[in-house]
Order: sequence, then C-alpha cells, then structure tokens
Amino acid sequence: MKHLRPPTPTRRPGRLAATPLRAALLGVAAYAAWTLACAHGDVTPQAVDTSALPKLGDEWRAENPFRGNDVAIKIGTSAYTQNCARCHGLEAISGGIAPDLRKLDNDCAPLKDNGRKVACVKEIDEYYLATVRRGRTRNGAVYMPPFDGVMNQEAIWSIKAYLETRRDKPF
Ligand code: HEC
Repeated sequence: MKHLRPPTPTRRPGRLAATPLRAALLGVAAYAAWTLACAHGDVTPQAVDTSALPKLGDEWRAENPFRGNDVAIKIGTSAYTQNCARCHGLEAISGGIAPDLRKLDNDCAPLKDNGRKVACVKEIDEYYLATVRRGRTRNGAVYMPPFDGVMNQEAIWSIKAYLETRRDKPF
C-alpha cells in the first residue's frame, strides 16, 4: 500500500496571529492525519479478545490493575498494533503524526521517592484513560477517535501495560 505523505501546511514565521488562519492550519493537520490513517488501512477499530484476563466489572479503575501482567501485556501488544499503531507508530515509535506514547510516563521516571513515583504513574493512568475513552477533538476536527464502547477497560489497561514495557525512560 502506498503511504501518502501529509501535505505540510506552509507556516509564516512568528506567531499565528489570525484565529481563522490557525483554525485552517489545524484543519489541514487533522486532514493530513486522517489521510495518513487511511493510507495505513485498518481504519475500523478491531475487537480485542480479553477473555484470558480477570474481569474488571463496570466501574472504571483509576489505576492500571494489569501493570506487569504478562497475559495483559501480550493482549495489549496486539490490541495496540491493531487500534493505535496506525497513528502512534508500530511498537509505539511515533512517526510524528501523533505523540510518542513511550514518553507517557517520562515525568515519573526521575522521581526517587517511591510513593511519589507511584502517585505520578497513577496520575498518568488517569490522563491516559480519559484520553483513550474520549479521544481528541479540537475545533470539531477528530484528531483521535474515542474508544469508549469500542474497547472494554480490560483491553484499554492491557494497552497501557504494553506501553509501560516500551518506556522511553525505563524505571
Ligand atoms: C486516528 C489517529 C489516532 C488513533 C487511531 C489513536 N490516536 Fe491517540 N492520539 C492521536 C493524536 C493526533 C493525538 C494528539 C491529539 C492532540 O494533540 O490533541 C493523540 C493523543 C493520545 C494520547 C495523549 C498523549 C500525550 O502525550 O498527551 C494518548 C495517551 C493516546 N493518544 C493513546 C492512544 C491509544 C492507546 C490508542 C489506541 C487505542 C490511540 N491513541 C489511537 C491520534 C490517534
């Protein structure tokens, strides 16, 4: 499959003064991300089989219950490849159109105090969960689709468990 390159919006140097111009540029960026997503195929979200994992119930956990769980990491690896890699890159190595998810926990890595480190990772877990459930929309343009109702929390936490094995700054 041919990989289309997103058109690079031409930017004037300096601040983007006019709001309509900024909106237009964001529109171009969103369109470029979309084109790239389509060029990679695989746009339909893929079902994730989480039957090998303990059920977490209806209430969303605030913290990853599957950290370091080998079964979850395996499921998360394939769930990531099927649902996230087209934008965030294979093996979580971003090609530039979406943030590099290996860096998610970077701010927590240097913390020496274990209690603070645990609290830091929990905060990132919450941010991660909210982002994946709601997706990202700006000015009406969908940068990332919402996964609420598409994947269960077992799948979403499995992906986080996988991403923790790919940390830019391993703990
Ligand atoms: C259609 C492309 C696309 C897909 C598919 C996608 N994302 Fe994203 N994601 C983005 C973009 C673009 C952003 C940045 C949005 C912004 O700048 O507001 C983002 C942001 C994020 C962030 C916040 C990162 C940060 O550093 O702030 C997380 C976490 C995330 N995505 C996780 C995922 C996971 C997990 C999946 C798969 C279940 C996924 N994304 C699927 C495009 C995508």
